[in-house]
Amino acid sequence: MPDADALMLAAAAAIQRGDLVGMPTETVYGLAADARNVNAVAKVFAAKQRPHFDPLIVHVADPAQAWSVAVPDARAERLAAACWPGPLTLVLPRRPGVPDLVTSGLETVAVRCPAHPLAQALIAASGRPLAAPSANRFGRISPTTAAHVREQLGDAVAMILDGGPCAVGVESTVLVTQPTPAVLRPGGVSCETLAEILGEPVAIAASEARAAALPAVAPGLLASHYAPRIPLSLRADGQPWSNAAEVAILALTTPDTAPAGPCEILSPSGDLTEAAANLFAAMRRLDASGASRIEAERVPAIGIGQAINDRLQRAAGLG
Ligand code: TXA
Ligand code: MG
Repeated sequence: MPDADALMLAAAAAIQRGDLVGMPTETVYGLAADARNVNAVAKVFAAKQRPHFDPLIVHVADPAQAWSVAVPDARAERLAAACWPGPLTLVLPRRPGVPDLVTSGLETVAVRCPAHPLAQALIAASGRPLAAPSANRFGRISPTTAAHVREQLGDAVAMILDGGPCAVGVESTVLVTQPTPAVLRPGGVSCETLAEILGEPVAIAASEARAAALPAVAPGLLASHYAPRIPLSLRADGQPWSNAAEVAILALTTPDTAPAGPCEILSPSGDLTEAAANLFAAMRRLDASGASRIEAERVPAIGIGQAINDRLQRAAGLG
């Protein structure tokens, strides 16, 4: 078996020649390509079957490299100093040199400095910023293990770096800093934390505002996302769980009565950080359990709980 250094060199060489690499990050696995190589970026869209109106995040080693592709403002500098490396993506005005394909032709670019040591090492060894969406087919559940990547995109990548299960488990928070700070996608860094760092309110953009930040798309096209193959519905507050054998249960903590069908418990103690780390793998297992549908419950909308609820909501097709 080749040693870790040899694997990293091979992965960096793959990036440099324009191929794709499955890259672990602390949030989810990414499908990485040289952000400045249009042909490589085109392979990402083709492999994911992702529409070209959905722009990619550019992954960088540090703030200095981020500011080589994006123009920071005072808020961005402050957030980068406090949160990077980590699960925060900043949407900022782009600099020349970022291909239109990466940004879907927008005047902004999304940048993030990931914390996972293998992501850091790949960016350093390849010597360039990496465009990387989550390594799943468009609209499906994001991968939190190397095996998940192999399953959906094994044929599309030159190699997959195995960094073990992702510690955070939901994607990065996507934040636009202008004109006022607004979260376009809740994620690994909570709104509360961002507001505290900035010393000002941080809005969670409504889905209409999120759509307005992106190129024009058919309404509703992005509503179903992070979706399992079988239908997922959200249990109304206070309602009992279904007790049919063909219904799979996705619960935060242990249900009062044992369900008849398959059941996944995200965190027996109700810890939201643990729940986020387990969310996507649990959804995948229930999807493959033979059940005809999944019933899930919302979690307290505190901290990373907002990101969990956002993903459940989208998996339910509620946008
Ligand atoms: O945690 C993550 O962010 C993972 C890992 C691999 O870093 N990546 C990820 O990428 O989730 P992706 O492509 O699955 O999601 C990127 C999100 C999309 O919702 C996209 O619309 C948004 O970021 N985005 C990218 N560029 C943007 C821009 N210029 N303006 C607004 N939103 C943007
Ligand atoms: Mg994604």
